[in-house]
Amino acid sequence: MCGIIAYLGEREAYPILVKGLERLEYRGYDSAGIAILKDNFIQLNKVVGKVNNLKSTTINGDIGISHTRWATHGIPNEANAHPHHNGDRSLFLVHNGIIENYVNLKKELIKRGYQFYSDTDTEVLTKLIDYHHKNSANQNTLKAIKNALHEVVGAYGLVLINKNEEKIYAARKGSPLVLGIGQREFFVASDPAAFLEHTRRALYLEDDDILEIDRKNFQVHNLHQDCDKLKRNVDHIKWNLSNIEKNGYEHFMLKEIHEQPDTLRNCLAGRIDMENHDSKFTDKLQPEFVKNLNKIIIASCGTSWHASLVIKHLIEKYSRIKVDVEYASEFRYKNPIINKNDLFVAISQSGETADTLAALKTAKENGLRCFGIVNVVGSSISREVDSGNYIRAGSEIGVASTKAFTGQVLCGILLMVHLGKIKGTITNQTAEKILNNLKNIPDLVKQTFEEEEKIKEIAKFVATKNNCFYLGRGLNIATALEGSLKLKEISYIHSEAFPAGELKHGPIALIEEGMPIIVIANKNEGIVYDKLLSNVQEVKSRKGKIIVIANDNDREIQDNVGEDSYVIRVPEVPDYLQAIINSVPLQLLSYYVAKERGCEIDQPRNLAKSVTVE
Ligand code: G6P
Repeated sequence: MCGIIAYLGEREAYPILVKGLERLEYRGYDSAGIAILKDNFIQLNKVVGKVNNLKSTTINGDIGISHTRWATHGIPNEANAHPHHNGDRSLFLVHNGIIENYVNLKKELIKRGYQFYSDTDTEVLTKLIDYHHKNSANQNTLKAIKNALHEVVGAYGLVLINKNEEKIYAARKGSPLVLGIGQREFFVASDPAAFLEHTRRALYLEDDDILEIDRKNFQVHNLHQDCDKLKRNVDHIKWNLSNIEKNGYEHFMLKEIHEQPDTLRNCLAGRIDMENHDSKFTDKLQPEFVKNLNKIIIASCGTSWHASLVIKHLIEKYSRIKVDVEYASEFRYKNPIINKNDLFVAISQSGETADTLAALKTAKENGLRCFGIVNVVGSSISREVDSGNYIRAGSEIGVASTKAFTGQVLCGILLMVHLGKIKGTITNQTAEKILNNLKNIPDLVKQTFEEEEKIKEIAKFVATKNNCFYLGRGLNIATALEGSLKLKEISYIHSEAFPAGELKHGPIALIEEGMPIIVIANKNEGIVYDKLLSNVQEVKSRKGKIIVIANDNDREIQDNVGEDSYVIRVPEVPDYLQAIINSVPLQLLSYYVAKERGCEIDQPRNLAKSVTVE
């Protein structure tokens, strides 16, 4: 978590850094700060709260580092805000990640006479570098950084300036950093979105890289080698600024919900192979390997975990391969049962989630073949896997994930077809039918927007409540979980989701008069649909208020749930497309409930979009 941007060039750094930080606020927004170097003096401005609070002042100078924070060690106050500095204010540092052994390091530093003004692990790191700087021959900054990092356990993306050098130093281990190369200017950021308006030339740092930038050039060094100058590729970033702006929408979340017909179309482009009745995949998923596949292990977090549940359901049903869905945060600590014929799949929007990355590393250490379903191109997970499919949803800025979820599910369906074809569990005929239906998905999603006005009205009712349930059966359990997560993330209404059949085994005790119960009821679920309607009656008898997602051709649904219930219509689709279609009205419902309650929709409290700490 936390966003970093640094600048060295010929322009005033402060406004460039403020703008860059605003583009990184999805990574955290508890506090922010900027340090600017000019004439061998570093001036600092730190604020509590959003980046916007930095705008009331400015500092002149053309070299600077900056940070927007998601608090881990220490509450969000000014002292804990970054940049941090050493005692004589000659070294300033911003950091994303966690220094796990900071308590011991701090004790050692205190013994050596150091004093601390904050509760952060970052101040400890700054002072550790200071210690090595003061004790290294010629006070060499690069050497001091290396020596300090050798003592550190944990994750970091860090950027440092020294008041006596017109340079920027950066180092990466586990937390992303990318160098932007402009015309006689350089940027270092957690995400290229922060400098995209200035340059599209980007160099992604790898773990153990240390970057040294001066006014003319840059060099990449390695933490463990001396006399090193590493070569790294410079990428050209293809996406546009419009991807990271609101384009007239009040919030990024609403924009991103409405982008889904396009993002799903992008996701499918070139991936449907009608000639071979298959989806197109990279050649690394070799048929021989798939034929001998024992099981699939998917690891992910949050919304991506819900997408994983949908994908599990579909691969098990259609491709007939066993799938385990793991909480990424648990996987590496549970001594997982792993077979060399298992396929490991990491699913992540950001491609930077520390838990998912750690699970992936565990899988790799165990010799598993690793596949990624990731949105952010060039992200850590996308670079660690053997092969994978990008979601192609474009930048997702709203903290509550929407278009990435539907894109992940769509990638999962493509994977399902491909695996089923190789395994022989999906026939040409079935594959052809699925692939033809996939082509319609962007237009079907567009149709769901026809209910937006009705959803706004329903939202006014839900917004007055403190508790809410989501119910589904089969595949729709995962969709219910995702709908419920969306609501709690941005509206702060307590919400839970259950398999509808489980309601009577406990949660029903919580139903009170007027409590919104959101039920996902697709008519083509067969017998499960009838059972679901019985569950609805159980709720109604306890005076819960039903809001049902039903198919547009379901004529009896209003009679079945009663005139006093709300019905949101979605097009009828085969089961493998239901999660995508059903989740769109649920996203809209959460959005309008949060709006009704006056919540900060794109930046909900306590959350961050990219969680790069374990
Ligand atoms: C954070 C976000 C969630 C997201 C989860 C996984 O907790 O707030 O919205 O689903 O991380 O993120 P990923 O980038 O791995 O999909």
